[in-house]
Amino acid sequence: MTMSNQPKLVTIFGGSGFVGRHIVRALAKRGYRIRVAVRRPDLAFHLQPLGNVGQISAVQANLRFRSSVDAAVKGSDYVINCVGILFAKGRNTFESVQDFGARAVAEATRAAGAKLIHISAIGADTDSESVYAASKARAEKAIHEILPEAIIMRPSIIFGPEDNFFNKFAAMARFAPALPLIGGGKTAFQPVFVGDVAEAVARGVDGKLETGKTYELGGPEILTFREILEMILEETDRERPLVSIPFGVASLIGSISSMVPFVDPPLTADQVELLKTDNVVSQEAADAGLTLDGMGISPTLASAIIPTYLVRHRPHGQYSRSGKVA
Ligand SMILES: NC(=O)c1ccc[n+]([C@@H]2O[C@H](COP(=O)([O-])OP(=O)(O)OC[C@H]3O[C@@H](n4cnc5c(N)ncnc54)[C@H](OP(=O)(O)O)[C@@H]3O)[C@@H](O)[C@H]2O)c1
Repeated sequence: MTMSNQPKLVTIFGGSGFVGRHIVRALAKRGYRIRVAVRRPDLAFHLQPLGNVGQISAVQANLRFRSSVDAAVKGSDYVINCVGILFAKGRNTFESVQDFGARAVAEATRAAGAKLIHISAIGADTDSESVYAASKARAEKAIHEILPEAIIMRPSIIFGPEDNFFNKFAAMARFAPALPLIGGGKTAFQPVFVGDVAEAVARGVDGKLETGKTYELGGPEILTFREILEMILEETDRERPLVSIPFGVASLIGSISSMVPFVDPPLTADQVELLKTDNVVSQEAADAGLTLDGMGISPTLASAIIPTYLVRHRPHGQYSRSGKVA
């Protein structure tokens, strides 16, 4: 831990990812020293302009290798783990990264006498049929056993420039003749802005949040999968039919697409499993104030941010096919 008057040192695992980059930015603005722990530090140079000269450094760490985790955490005051995967790739499995890896970070944090914020996900559940959700839940349990004071944050689906969800379906709408309404499109989400997630984490590092708690982060509105696809089509000014695909068929498509070598699957059977459960902030978390509102953060509407990064098919002001001004 820092003994001098230097700003506190925060180590971020997964700092090169979508959420991690926003956390780096939020912490840099507050003046913390930041150590980004990534598998390929040579690819993390783009993070340095987010802070002042010398404020952000990169070190090599892979959550599958305990010694690299220990070395990355050494000397830190705070540790943030925002490593997660959507599908297994080689030895980077849900078990090795989201379960074993998350425990390794917690143990290293305890050994260093530092504090921990861990990013999990709404839907984490040891009984889930989804390996993603079950591994997240096992990690949460282990983390609170290792470090009872650790803060866990469970976001719903996260939106923002370079997100994985809105961008994916917007890209699909460019090329595909129709968009898939998996399971009929009834799954409910509470999309949360990546900037709000980063602000929540930064407030945790500032010491403004209750420790030892699990926070659930959702946006201001609950939208079904269908409503989200409709919003994407509206924002990108595309007209595509929405075709209902039963869960069983989507799961089969996911299993087949996961077998294609050297290509990241657009959908996996495990993700289809996740879509069977609503992904919204629980009543218990809301009642306990363990939410963005409870932290004093007003969650941002998706409709306020999405137009800033989803590319419109026709710029505003041009005539659409129906003859109306778009
Ligand atoms: N995005 C969402 O909608 C959403 C919703 C709920 C929860 N979450 C959770 O939020 C966290 C961040 O998600 P994200 O969207 O930012 O994901 P992301 O963009 O895919 O970033 C994941 C990060 O994990 C790193 N990583 C993967 N395997 C690793 C390993 N073995 N060792 C060290 N680092 C490794 C990646 O580094 P490389 O550059 O080396 O690959 C990357 O920096 C995850 O825990 C995720 O489950 C995300």
